[in-house]
Amino acid sequence: MSDELVLVERDGGVAVVLMNRPKQLNALSAELMGVLVETLAALDDDADVRAIVLGGSERAFAAGADIAELSAGTPISLYANRRLEQWDTIRKLRTPVVAAVSGFCLGGGCELAMLCDLIVAAETAKFGQPEINLGVLPGAGGTQRLTRAVGKAVAMDMILTGRMLSAREALAYGLVARVVAREAWLGEGKRVAAEIADRGPVAVRLAKEAVDQAFEAPLQAGVEFERRAFFLARASEDADEGLRAFLEKRKPEFRGR
Ligand code: CAA
Repeated sequence: MSDELVLVERDGGVAVVLMNRPKQLNALSAELMGVLVETLAALDDDADVRAIVLGGSERAFAAGADIAELSAGTPISLYANRRLEQWDTIRKLRTPVVAAVSGFCLGGGCELAMLCDLIVAAETAKFGQPEINLGVLPGAGGTQRLTRAVGKAVAMDMILTGRMLSAREALAYGLVARVVAREAWLGEGKRVAAEIADRGPVAVRLAKEAVDQAFEAPLQAGVEFERRAFFLARASEDADEGLRAFLEKRKPEFRGR
């Protein structure tokens, strides 16, 4: 078994990144987060990588921030080391990231999954923000992103009581895009990423940015952003190719230009 904190595997345009601290249920230590952020940023810079799958193990996507580190840290060390700010690098990735979730997806783990573009989950996965049980609260965007994903009532229920959601509940509430059989979590994550990787990368990235605008901008500003993104995508060679291929009844060959 590898002792690397993050395992990376490439398959065509898809990169699979697996967190690998199994004994601690992939608790997000500063070291793990540092390696993870560096790995994702490097893959984002690689034009051959068209989609990324982020996962953990069958038992846990990630059980949250590392509680031992959190307990040893002081408010000032947490503020000064800027570790939570690293998470913004993940938010800003241009390459789509599919979270493939199996097992526990809790606290910072759930916040990490929500930073990804979509979540595919095993039917046995469990989602939660149990920080309240530790006398703290989510610190990496959970109160904001969970509320936007599932609405105020369910977010309050989860964040104030620490209640966990099953994968089926997470699907019903809109936190998760697809639920699959226990053993299919990674395979389905790779399949979704491969589908995305097969599409025109210019349009994919612009579409990702446009959907993200729905969380950042008022409606009309978001619609205007989308319109400009649409015109920009139409200016790409990939759009010429995609439109022509449809009319010629053949599969398009996108080049990312
Ligand atoms: N940090 C550090 N270690 C953790 C951990 C975490 N978040 N979660 C689990 N572990 C460790 C356990 O200490 C245990 O280690 P040992 O074998 O050395 O004792 C090992 O992982 C296995 O865990 P359990 O024995 O507890 O396994 P279980 O199956 O009985 O329970 C669990 C699993 C329900 C996930 C339970 O481990 C648990 O409740 N973990 C903590 C979840 C949590 O509170 N997460 C929020 C963290 S705070 C946060 O994330 C802040 C933020 O927003 C940034």
